[in-house]
Amino acid sequence: MAIRKIARMGNPVLYRIAEEIADPRDPEVARLAGDMRDTLIDIGGSGIAAPQVFESVRLVVYRLSPRIGRDDGAETWVNMVNPVVTPLVDDTEAGWERCLSIPGLHGKVPRHRKVRISYQTLDGEAVEHEATNGHAVLLQHECDHLDGVLYPMRMSDHALLEFDAEPGHLARDVAAGAEVWPVLRQLVADWPGREQWMS
Ligand code: NI
Repeated sequence: MAIRKIARMGNPVLYRIAEEIADPRDPEVARLAGDMRDTLIDIGGSGIAAPQVFESVRLVVYRLSPRIGRDDGAETWVNMVNPVVTPLVDDTEAGWERCLSIPGLHGKVPRHRKVRISYQTLDGEAVEHEATNGHAVLLQHECDHLDGVLYPMRMSDHALLEFDAEPGHLARDVAAGAEVWPVLRQLVADWPGREQWMS
């Protein structure tokens, strides 16, 4: 297991269509998934796709945790080989996201709030389920990485891309009671300028 270097926005590896994984049970795939998990833990992220660690293959590792609004306090790790996400609703709703490949920024991105996800496990087992809200957003964000898409490329209003240290638009949404991942809500709590600008 090892902590991997993360590719940042602008690196060509992030804009490629990643390759299908022929055999999910290949020990190399398990090793890569283990490294991605170690990297996520080290950097404190929720999800990561293989192209973000310079491996252009269709593998995603994520954790469902209180960080992104899971309310039972538990944490579940998921490895997805060759995931396919299908929207189950036509309309989208904008919500706030961050990306390990775009450090220091966050943005408001339109996403479908209900999707179906299908993938293979590291044992080669086929899994399919539905996901909603924050979970659905995370799945769309990570699967986009496999098709060379970063969240700013999905944004309809680029005025809503801002620094983590100056979360003015995000703070406005939090104050209005919008559904925001706890990990992002914390940016507002930590913002020294909050009292000056939000009162
Ligand atoms: Ni990302």
